[in-house]
Amino acid sequence: MTNAPDTVVRPRTNEDLAPAAAALVRVHHLDGYPVEGVTDPIAWLTPDGLVEAWVAELDGRVVGHAALVTATDSDDAARLWSAHSGTPVSEILVLARLFVDPDARGHKLGEDLTRAIMNAAARRGRPLVLDVMTKDTAAIRLYERLGWKRIGTVTHTFGDGHETPAVCYVAPSLAE
Ligand SMILES: CC(C)(COP(=O)(O)OP(=O)(O)OC[C@H]1O[C@@H](n2cnc3c(N)ncnc32)[C@H](O)[C@@H]1OP(=O)(O)O)[C@@H](O)C(=O)NCCC(=O)NCCS
Repeated sequence: MTNAPDTVVRPRTNEDLAPAAAALVRVHHLDGYPVEGVTDPIAWLTPDGLVEAWVAELDGRVVGHAALVTATDSDDAARLWSAHSGTPVSEILVLARLFVDPDARGHKLGEDLTRAIMNAAARRGRPLVLDVMTKDTAAIRLYERLGWKRIGTVTHTFGDGHETPAVCYVAPSLAE
């Protein structure tokens, strides 16, 4: 009988950045996420407006990541939710930088990271949104399973004029 793998989701430390960056490069190679590429993975993991970052471990190895970021006017999902709810964009939080190393998938680490970010936003009493490329079907299934509601579709522009369709979501209120 094989033992169940040991999974942990916890706040990120500086020591986690290098293994998280290595996992991100593998994710980009397999899934094309993020679409804009990973020329500087550490910079991508430490964006402006970062509020909290979490990592997932599988058997003691950092294999996953998610971040909570303050929205700006360039966030499509935040603009949509602001127009719908009247909440200023600056009060909206965004789930970003979610990924799990390809060889560590299927252990609910993506779900646990998403729940950690949902709980962090709920503790702050702030709405939480995200946008996800239509091609990222595993992520879309995960969000919908956790009760996220679709609030619109947008076209994401990146690189040298490339375009890809994306879906915007708002998290269910944990107070409901
Ligand atoms: C989305 C992602 C984070 C999910 O990670 P995970 O740790 O496998 O997540 P979970 O185990 O909670 O499973 C979530 C979904 O992934 C899919 N999945 C499960 N096991 C899988 C496996 N071994 N391989 C690939 N996908 C798998 C399933 O669709 C599952 O949903 P379901 O159980 O309702 O069918 C991961 O697939 C990923 O990094 N994708 C590429 C990056 C990305 O799309 N990020 C989101 C950007 S908004």
